[in-house]
Amino acid sequence: MTRPRIVLLPGDGIGPEVTDSARQVLEAVTRVSDLELDLVEAAIGGHAIDTMGEPLPAAVLALCETSDAMLLGAVGGPQWSALPATDRPEAGLLRLRKHFELFANLRPVTVQPELATAAPLKPELLRNVDLLFVRELTGGLYFGPRREQGDGEDAFDTMVYSVAEVERVAHVAFRAARRRSRKVTSVDKANVLASMRLWRRTVERVAAQYPDVTLDHLLVDNCAMQLIRQPAAFDVLLTPNLFGDVLSDEASVLAGSLGSLPSASLGDGPRGLYEPVHGSAPDIAGSGLANPLGAISSAALLLRYSLDREVEARAIEAAVAAVLAAGYRTADLAAADEVAVSTVELTEQIIHHLAEIESPAEAPEPSLVGEAG
Ligand code: IPM
Ligand code: MG
Repeated sequence: MTRPRIVLLPGDGIGPEVTDSARQVLEAVTRVSDLELDLVEAAIGGHAIDTMGEPLPAAVLALCETSDAMLLGAVGGPQWSALPATDRPEAGLLRLRKHFELFANLRPVTVQPELATAAPLKPELLRNVDLLFVRELTGGLYFGPRREQGDGEDAFDTMVYSVAEVERVAHVAFRAARRRSRKVTSVDKANVLASMRLWRRTVERVAAQYPDVTLDHLLVDNCAMQLIRQPAAFDVLLTPNLFGDVLSDEASVLAGSLGSLPSASLGDGPRGLYEPVHGSAPDIAGSGLANPLGAISSAALLLRYSLDREVEARAIEAAVAAVLAAGYRTADLAAADEVAVSTVELTEQIIHHLAEIESPAEAPEPSLVGEAG
């Protein structure tokens, strides 16, 4: 059996700490299962700028080409914020997503019952919250034509979507909905923007192929409100690139902390990029305060979607849930009267639970991408 290669891209701020936690959990999985992994590390973002001169060096990209999956920590920080957009740490991540055409960004948001009191919303609103963002990731405002001229008097970005770009990500959302509560909410701004009218028309056409899934449309401003007014009403949220970026940060409040949320970025094949929903949190970097759950849960998604290892993915997710249920929390999740543990301690607890878990053998879920509707 060839060992799947995972390229670890720790990046900046708390990225190295949380990536190290995820690495340790993956290594623990290899000790309690027959899975073998080839874990290699490479630079990205500000770290790559400082050590190799650019945010996504050609050698790193070449290494990623040899991988089965990539696991990234975080990119960005104040020391690189004066750089022009194309040279910033974030440009490395955006280029990586685009290079591998990872057009579907899955961001699940669930509320662990014990954490409902950690969120600033009324706990009763958080009951039964289980949503999945499917964010379009390689088009829209992030990648349309733009002009930025030094200190010039104007600048622009352009929101462009083609029918093909909307169709492929819509199929991912409908397929995902079929395994969940069979409901897709498509988010747009069709009352104002031409690209968003094309988005809505196209999603409607794709929906006709999934008569068993309910589709509704929400304008993004209304969606931002409904997400905190009645979050349990949502199942799959299908969003353009920018709206998904904004709404997923908003939704992280439901789960207690941005640091807890994982994501998977997928294209047509099995190779994917996995990362916490984001934040390099430079203010707490190196202090042992970082929440590693987003990175660890991203490793679970990696096992599920890129390596077809559903049993091991669930074992990690069960370990995370068990450790939270047992009361362990990093500072971002701890209530005022709770004692917080460090990144390292929380990771050790998860590894400890992993060793104890007997995973039921269940059939893996079929892949979400690269299939006909
Ligand atoms: C995210 C992040 C990125 C994005 C940044 C770091 C480029 O905010 O993954 O949500 O805007 O997509
Ligand atoms: Mg973001």
